[in-house]
Formats: sequence, C-alpha cells, structure tokens
Amino acid sequence: MAKEKVIVTSALPYANGPIHLGHLSGAYLPADIYVRYKRLNGDDVIYICGSDEHGVPITISADKEKVSPQVIIDRYHEANKKAFERFGMSFDNYSRTSLLIHHETAKEFFLEFYNRGLFAEKKSLQFYDDQAKMFLPDRYVEGTCPKCGNEEARSDECEVCGSLYDPSELKNPKSKISGGSPTLKETSHYYFPLGKYQPALEKYVDEMNEKYGWKDNVIQYCRGWFKDGLKDRAITRDLDWGIKVPIDSAVGKVIYVWFEAVLGYISSTKELSLLKNDPDLWKKYWYDPDTKYTAFIGKDNVVFHTIIFPAILMAWNQAGKEQYCLPQNVPANEFLNFEGKKFSKSRGWGIDVDEFLDLFEPDLLRYALAANLPETRDTDFYWKEFKLRNNSELADILGNFINRTFTFVFKHFDGKVPASGKLEKIDEDMLKEISEYPERISDYFEKYKIRDGVNEIMNLAREGNKYFNDSEPWKTIKTDKERCGKTLNICLQAIYTLAELYSPVLPFSSKKLFKMLNTKPVEWKECGKPHLKESHQLNKAEILFPKIEDEKIESQVNKLQNSNFQKETEELITYDDFMKVNLKVAEVIEAEMVKKSEKLLKLKVKIENEERQVIAGIAKSYTPETIIGKKVVIVANLKPAKLMGLESKGMILAVETEDGELQILNVSEKIKTGTRVK
Ligand code: 2FM
Ligand code: ZN
Repeated sequence: MAKEKVIVTSALPYANGPIHLGHLSGAYLPADIYVRYKRLNGDDVIYICGSDEHGVPITISADKEKVSPQVIIDRYHEANKKAFERFGMSFDNYSRTSLLIHHETAKEFFLEFYNRGLFAEKKSLQFYDDQAKMFLPDRYVEGTCPKCGNEEARSDECEVCGSLYDPSELKNPKSKISGGSPTLKETSHYYFPLGKYQPALEKYVDEMNEKYGWKDNVIQYCRGWFKDGLKDRAITRDLDWGIKVPIDSAVGKVIYVWFEAVLGYISSTKELSLLKNDPDLWKKYWYDPDTKYTAFIGKDNVVFHTIIFPAILMAWNQAGKEQYCLPQNVPANEFLNFEGKKFSKSRGWGIDVDEFLDLFEPDLLRYALAANLPETRDTDFYWKEFKLRNNSELADILGNFINRTFTFVFKHFDGKVPASGKLEKIDEDMLKEISEYPERISDYFEKYKIRDGVNEIMNLAREGNKYFNDSEPWKTIKTDKERCGKTLNICLQAIYTLAELYSPVLPFSSKKLFKMLNTKPVEWKECGKPHLKESHQLNKAEILFPKIEDEKIESQVNKLQNSNFQKETEELITYDDFMKVNLKVAEVIEAEMVKKSEKLLKLKVKIENEERQVIAGIAKSYTPETIIGKKVVIVANLKPAKLMGLESKGMILAVETEDGELQILNVSEKIKTGTRVK
C-alpha cells in the first residue's frame, strides 16, 4: 500500500489538573498505539497535542485556589507534559494554547471570517450574577437539562444526553460563584453561522462515514444534532481570561475557547515546524486536502470535532486560498470508570498517572488499559483486573514464552540462534501462523479497533507456548538436538515478531526485548518473516514481567475502601435494619455434593434442637468431609428458596478471597448453636 501522509491529534487536555487513567484511555493511549504502529508501517505521520489553557475550567481551578489562571496553567502544563512522557506518549509536539503562535493563529481565523462578514452580531440574554457583578460563562451556571432532566447540566450543554441548547432554556439555573439564581441580562456577541453549513456538514459526515467507517456512537451523535438542526453559535464570551477578540469595539470579550482550542492542533504543528527549523513544514500536512487526518477524542468532545472544527475549516477553505484537510476519522471513545464509579478529581476518586507510575511500570498500565479500552461502551479499571492482566497474561503467557525459549537457547545452544534445519508440518504451520500476524493486527489498527488488535497479539504468544509444548524440546534435546534447535529457532522468530507487534503497546518492554534479541525492528509488514540468522548471538534474558504481589494491590484496594468518597456513597442502614437479619450459630451435621453441580453442597445444619437443610455454593472450596462438624454463621430468617430443585432454608456466611476461594466464617467450637450473632 502506498505510504500515507498522516496527522494524528489527541484532544488538548485542559491544564487545570493532573492527567488520570480515564484521560489516557480516551484520547491518548489509543492514539499513541496507532501512531507508533503507523511509524513502523513507514507512513509519514505527525502526532500533535498540547495543553488547552483558556476555558472556564482553568478559571474555576484558579478561583478555588485563589491564584491567577497563569499559575494554574504553568503548573499543570509542565506536570502533564512530564506525566505523558513517563507514560511513553510519543507526541511529535506538545504545545500550549497560551503561546503567541496560537493566539496569532486564532486571531487570523477570527479576522478572516469577520472581514468576510461571515459572523452575525447578535444581542442575547446571558446569565449575570448580580452579587459577583459579572456575566457567567457556561460552566459557572448549573441547572436542569431541558431535554433529559439531568440536574447537573451546564448552561448550554448537557453531558448526560449530549444536547446543546440556548441558556434561556435551562431550568432552575444556579450561579456557581455566589450560589444565587442568576438573571438573564442583555449582551452582544459574534455568531458563527453553523446552520448555514449544515448541508455541507451532513454531506461531509456521510462521505467520511462511507469511505472510512466512522464509529457508530460518533455517527449517532452527529445524526442527532443534524436532526435537531444546527444553530448559529456565539463564538465570543464576556470574560477576561482567553484570547482577546481582535476588534477594538469588543471590550472585555474573548474568543470562545472551543473556537480557538481546535485551532491549537494547527498552531502546535506550526510550533513543531519552528522547532525543526522548517517553518513551512506544517503546510505540507495541513494544506493537503488528502492528508489522512485522525482526531482522537473522548465522547464528550464529539460535536466540536465532527461539526464545529470541520465547519471552521470549510469556512476557511471557501475563500479559495489554502485548502485545509478536515478530519477523516474521529474515533471517539466512551469513558473509563474507576472501580465502578466515575473518576472525580474533586472527590478524590481515581488515580493520577504519576501516582500510578510511582507504583508500577508504564507498560503494565499501557497493557491493562489497552486491553480494556472503552471503544464501544464504558469500561472500568479495577485493581484486581490490573493484577490479573499482568500476572496471567503478560507474565504467564508472553513472559513465560520468552523466558523458556531464552533459557533453553542459553543452556543448550550457548545463546546463539540454532539452525532451522528441515521443517516438518508443525513447524511450517507455526511459521505460516507467525507470518499472518502483522497484517491481521494492522487490519485492526487501521480500523481503530485498537483493543481487539492488542488482544489478538497475545494469541501469538499463546500459539508460541502451544508450539513449544507440542514440540517437546526438553525431550528432543536428548534424542535429536537438530530438531530441538529448529523448534527454538522458530520460537525465537515468533518472539521477534512479538517484539515488533507489541512495540506500539509496550514500547519500553519491546525495546528491552529487541536488546535481548540483539537486533532491531523492521518495517511492520516484514516483521512476520524469519529475521534471525543462524548463529546470531543473543543477549542474556531479563525478566520482563515480574508478577505483581497481592499485598501491593490489596493496599490500593484498602485505600479506596477507606476513602471518604466510598464512605459517602455507601448506603447507610439503621441499627433496626441490621437487627432484622437474624444471624445464628449453627453446626453442620451432614454434607453431600448436589448431583450434577460442581458448586453446591447439600448440608444439614443444627440450630439448638432444630435441623434444617441448606444448599451452599461452597463445593469448590470445601468437600463434604472437611465441612462436617464445623460451626458456622447462618442467616436464619432468610426466605426459603429452591436451588436445583432442592429447598434451602438459610444462608451460610463466607468471605471470598482474591483467588475466588470461599472461606466460611469460623466460629469457635465452644459456642453453642442457636447463639445470636450481632
Ligand atoms: O475536554 C477537554 O479536555 C478539552 N480541553 C478538549 C479540547 S480538544 C481541542 F479542541 F483542543
Ligand atoms: Zn440532558
């Protein structure tokens, strides 16, 4: 396939707080994997990002800390840039929208449109806080969404249902500054005629979708907005933080942050050009309508990247001068939650990239997030799942395959690649299998199915282990050393392929693995062919993926369970509620397996003089013999239920351990049955 000219952008994060795992899963990690893959594929790609430093989220943070917005953006721009680096993000440039070059770019667009008479100047009613004596920007007003009833909707946009509306439609508005009810007061703003562009935008979205297959969620959003009808959007605000409107009469007004932030992609590329001493470089990418431009974002940013930004670029292109490329694809991700709840900076729920990387290597996080990207639905980060991904996939499958192969080659072949010799069917099949992977993975990545691609790579390591087992090199080393060498040769070729396929996902480990292999990556489509020559000297192996200890994960889980947020959101019950549950000590006097069930035991328990039958799902942890005679705690007043046709009167209390084992709560021998537990 011909080499492509590619621009990739990730949404510019607000410089008002640290980057957390939710951000990474949305617009950053998938983009980085894609970009690293494209580079290996030989495509001509630039990857652009930077801090979004205007916008009300910044001034809100500044107000909270009683410092100037400048203090906030300086702090978080630097911190986020470093955190991204630690995580292995490979931006070609990470700029910031407070730079002069960005202000100039935004003003150039604004003035071009203004001079062409494109904007309408309209008076409108805007929320005004009488106590604070200021117009309230969107995010300083909260109220009930006129469409879906969400009570935490913003003044002109609802995060829950994605609707955009006029501030006057918002119900029960409240000022976030004074807490009072703001009044609507007249002000005047410039409006971008979005409505006028609706036909062109619909055509654009349809065409892109047809050619490049946009994601369903993105198309649904777009169709929704088109159906409602696009309205003209005010692109100025009454604020003092931001890019001043470059017109003398517009006193105290700045350019609406979303109008200029999206232009940050262009200004960041301009900065890159200057840094590379090639000032016109950016034009080569942006002024080519055929550039393959992909904008990675989270779902809350869809309208700005599929409608507003394209409309701005279309409006520019209409003048017939330079022709900007529009996004060809906008693979928006859903959200990642943290242990079942939304990430919340203010409530301390979640974990920052830096905090995480103080505990674990970046590749472990990259892998766990990549294998569980919220591409089609919201997903969750769970600590236990993180451990499992590392221990049972990276360590047990990939790490194990690499280790056993290297150990064997060093023990029996002096760390040199053995000869491949005469191939049998099993070897040919394996080589064929390896050779098919690069294209298979690139098919996924080209379609932005990053999660599926990442999960598919592990199958090659699985195949590798199976091939190793089936070939039994521990036997052939004694009977037929040449054959043993051939097995290991093919295993090493598979490891080479894995090193390259994983390099977009696990860049740090892949680098180490290439060092162990004592060689370098090749072009992506070549990496499934055998590259290691006979007698090539390998370097000693290191353990790439040590197992994560239980304690390390437990301490994180405990921290969460003790967090105030967890306590606040747990539903509280009264003492009386608790006393409704009749917990009693009982003794197990008979036990047998329930037929046709692997999990259930049929127990007879004694409570004082009463005997009753209880069906308990503990057979994987207890045999009938080990449970008979034990004193247990039972919920004595549970409504009887039938399990596999057998009546069960009561429930035995047990705890589930990390590995899914059930342990019944032990009661001392001396306690009499029937004693109440409270
Ligand atoms: O939602 C956000 O975090 C915005 N700062 C994203 C901006 S993307 C682009 F417009 F710059
Ligand atoms: Zn809503």
